[in-house]
Amino acid sequence: MKHFLKTTDFNIQEVDETLSLAQKFKAERGTVPSSALNGQSWGMLFFKSSTRTRVSFEVGVHELGGNALYLNKNDVQISRGETIADTAKVLSRYLHGIIIRCYDHALLEEFAAEGSIPVVNALSDFLHPCQIYSDAFTMAERWSGGGSLLESLQGKKIAFLGDTACNMANSWMLGAALFGMDISLAGPAGFEPGQDIKDLIQASGLTPSWTFHTDPTEAVEGADAVYTDVWVSMGMEDEKEERLNTLQPFQVNSALMLAAKAEALFLHCLPAHAGEEVTQEVIDSPASIIFDQAENRLHVQKAILAMLAKSAI
Ligand code: CP
Ligand code: NVA
Repeated sequence: MKHFLKTTDFNIQEVDETLSLAQKFKAERGTVPSSALNGQSWGMLFFKSSTRTRVSFEVGVHELGGNALYLNKNDVQISRGETIADTAKVLSRYLHGIIIRCYDHALLEEFAAEGSIPVVNALSDFLHPCQIYSDAFTMAERWSGGGSLLESLQGKKIAFLGDTACNMANSWMLGAALFGMDISLAGPAGFEPGQDIKDLIQASGLTPSWTFHTDPTEAVEGADAVYTDVWVSMGMEDEKEERLNTLQPFQVNSALMLAAKAEALFLHCLPAHAGEEVTQEVIDSPASIIFDQAENRLHVQKAILAMLAKSAI
């Protein structure tokens, strides 16, 4: 039985298979029903807000023939002190798998260790792997020209601007090393990647493929894709004012996009705060593929769930 807690929980062959399966699910949506989760019930335990992740997983489980149960943490006994270990043991008696959005990444690991069903990371403070796979798929749709999705990513350069110590930056550092891409991060001094993500890249046996820059233009030069994320992630609201000031020089605007390759794509995991990490002009520009990214969460997560269901048999 496999879990999907981090970008590297699938090896490169499984990544290849997942991207191809997502392509098939996308092409066949609404015409060829899938039975990958037939008769199964998957829980969705969320400690944080969500639009895309919640809806794409609920719809995705349904389209695979399964039943999704949304469990807001306020509505379950965890909110009154029941332990994660007991919750994991109990929910494993009912469910075939669980999708969890939480703060501390260790909660996911504890649930996986104490329960007996596949666990999917729907975002933690440390990593957001479902988003990364969808992003990779969305870029590969543009670059593959009908060939291998995975191979089309290899050798490409992505620039990540802004909060270079957040879950999205971490996920992309790990993802770039796994997919064979280079990533240049641009953020202020003090936002360098943390030791935990550097250790994870090393422990995964991957060659690091990231560089850190305090000059945004330098990071974007020669980039095939420019990526940003909110400056105030969920749980960091107390630091809002300070972050909006410190991160201002790293806004993705039209002038900065000119420093990337002429055909460079713009990506954002969303939700976006136009006027903060990115301008409305860039969001609306032909380079922007943000709504394809959002759509592809559905197709790619269906593929991830189907892969996990197969490994759980
Ligand atoms: N990108 C993303 O995970 O969006 P939500 O927070 O709306 O799920
Ligand atoms: N870094 C953001 C990602 C949202 C999808 C957050 O954690 O809030």
